[in-house]
Amino acid sequence: MSYKITIQPSGHIFTAEPGETVLQAALRQGFPLPYGCRDGACGSCKGKIIQGKVDFGSHSIDTLTEIEKTTGMALFCCALPLSELVIESREISAIKDITVRTLPCRVDRLERVAPDVTIISLKLPTNERLQFLAGQYIDILMKDGKRRSFSLANAPHDDELLQLHVRNYPGGSFSEHVFTSMKEKEILRFEGPLGTFFLREESDKPIIFVASGTGFAPIKSMIESIFYKSNMQPSERQIVLYWGTRTKSDLYLAELAGSWQQSHDNFTFIPVLSEPMPEDDWHGRTGLVHQAVMQDFDSLAGYQVYACGTPAMVSAAHQDFIQLQNLPDDEFFSDMFTISSSASKS
Ligand code: FES
Repeated sequence: MSYKITIQPSGHIFTAEPGETVLQAALRQGFPLPYGCRDGACGSCKGKIIQGKVDFGSHSIDTLTEIEKTTGMALFCCALPLSELVIESREISAIKDITVRTLPCRVDRLERVAPDVTIISLKLPTNERLQFLAGQYIDILMKDGKRRSFSLANAPHDDELLQLHVRNYPGGSFSEHVFTSMKEKEILRFEGPLGTFFLREESDKPIIFVASGTGFAPIKSMIESIFYKSNMQPSERQIVLYWGTRTKSDLYLAELAGSWQQSHDNFTFIPVLSEPMPEDDWHGRTGLVHQAVMQDFDSLAGYQVYACGTPAMVSAAHQDFIQLQNLPDDEFFSDMFTISSSASKS
């Protein structure tokens, strides 16, 4: 039997299907209750049952004591509804709600998807999950004390593995390691989630995403998150993705972006090559990716723009969209990849 659950103080309502924990049901329907381990160990998901009954599930007795249970507290990652519920919980809607953590992880999979791009899939310890907002990044903590920043390319709901898109920068010690000697099962440590490049979901303005190179990674996370949520709450928000790379082989997940266009009427994918090779046999758009946007839109006054990639692209887009295309300054969100040795992002 399914049960209706009301969150206070927001008043949001969702439904738990048989066998679903309160947290699983909330996340499935796009209500981001806080969580950490999803395993009854960390206490991040602890909240109050104001009305109704739950099976508290199996959890650490230190994380939720018997006394706490008698006062109505529960761990939502373990609690199975036994009736309609009214619960009290925060909902994650901004960076300030998210805990930055330092965690170990294991390299689960390495995939070379372009001559100079590798996708790394990272697995967290069994009892850990990372809560983040689509678009945020993590810092890999290297043994020599340096950090290397990478955007998370998986969407927050799809958190079994964390996905990073790593570009091979000559002289970048971490990327050289990835491309020459990294093996599956290697253990890494990271800090995150970090950054303020995340989707502003309260807006209903149409969105233009502009990516260059591996700047596609956080945008992939945002787009997959939008599609996931629109399964629960249909959204008419129009989305256009411009993805600029040098050659066709650099468009390392073009098929995926193309498949989004096939399955979502409100989504358009426009790949743009700056230096197509003769063998690319390219008949699509060419030139600088942000200029392709300017060719297609007379005015960006009613839009939101999310740009991620090289500093040159992001700076040019910011300046030109605002000065020449009437984009309001506070509707431009960006993350740029720098390649300094201590804190670089790709
Ligand atoms: S106890 Fe860690 S998320 Fe529930």
